[in-house]
Amino acid sequence: MNMNVVITERMHRSGIDFLKENDANVELLYETNRSLEDAIKDADGVVVRVAKINENLMRIGKEHKLKVIAKHGIGVDNIDVEAAKKLGIRVVNVPYSCINAVAEFALGAILLLAKDYVRFDSEVRKGNWNLRYHKSNVEIRGKTIGIIGYGNIGRTVAKFANSLGAYVFAYDRFVEVHEDYVKQVGLETLLKGSDFISIHVPLTKETYHLIGRRELEIVREGVYIVNTSRGGIVDESALCEAIERGRVSGALLDTTEQEPVTLDNPILKCRNLILTAHSAGNSDVAVVGDSLDSCRQVLQVLKGEEPPFIVA
Ligand SMILES: NC(=O)c1ccc[n+]([C@@H]2O[C@H](COP(=O)([O-])OP(=O)(O)OC[C@H]3O[C@@H](n4cnc5c(N)ncnc54)[C@H](O)[C@@H]3O)[C@@H](O)[C@H]2O)c1
Repeated sequence: MNMNVVITERMHRSGIDFLKENDANVELLYETNRSLEDAIKDADGVVVRVAKINENLMRIGKEHKLKVIAKHGIGVDNIDVEAAKKLGIRVVNVPYSCINAVAEFALGAILLLAKDYVRFDSEVRKGNWNLRYHKSNVEIRGKTIGIIGYGNIGRTVAKFANSLGAYVFAYDRFVEVHEDYVKQVGLETLLKGSDFISIHVPLTKETYHLIGRRELEIVREGVYIVNTSRGGIVDESALCEAIERGRVSGALLDTTEQEPVTLDNPILKCRNLILTAHSAGNSDVAVVGDSLDSCRQVLQVLKGEEPPFIVA
């Protein structure tokens, strides 16, 4: 069976090797000058990271031989899942590989903001060792960490937060919290009562700007916000204004509305905002699992087998 799989973006070689060992032809799109619009005409399967796969691309693929799109990771907001259902193209993802990677990253961000390592480093380098007499750092124990989205990652962050002696609030519209160390609350209570907010909902129509101007008006004064989920869930200009006013003490955004962030993006001017490159899920362990399990499922679909993580 002749199988062509297009890999849109760089990823760990484990999945690519697996495809080749199983006699698939692999096209590494990022090493060619070809557009995805063109390459999808030859593809039985496509593996994507953040590249957008819209209905138009799917239709082009479907007119030829496209059968499956695999997401290297969890969030499928870059794939038009409804269009895939309509067209009968299978969509799969890898929901378990990077849970710990993202949860650890979020915890690291909470600590980074609380302890202000970056500022201390830059002041010490300027000779301002005496900052220690003027600036204290924030202790996590006894503070409240509010988790928005109590799924696989949110639950893991809650466990970490509990182990540090924090109170934990969780807001989730669809799941019930069972852990006795977590208090399930409404969004407003979470916003008003949390010293740290960590966001772990998918990007959907409902979660777009879930944390917007109105929400940032009612957050607890001096809150820290961490978003390792998706750009678009936090209104970035409202966040920068809230940081400017001191309502929000600081934030870390791993994901932003514009990715990659270009040098003219106004968020780069925002102080007390730390930006990372959608890298929370890219741990040494997770990149192997994401690569292997996305490619493995492509082959399963192409061989007529049932893959474990079907989205559409
Ligand atoms: N930064 C990264 O590298 C990276 C890596 C992996 C995942 N992510 C993001 O993290 C998100 C969460 O991952 P997960 O594995 O925990 O997903 P999950 O599906 O296990 O959990 C998401 C939770 O959000 C809840 N939810 C959905 N819509 C909601 C709404 N409108 N209001 C309140 N709660 C809502 C769901 O009920 C669910 O419990 C993913 O969707 C993805 O966007 C980011």
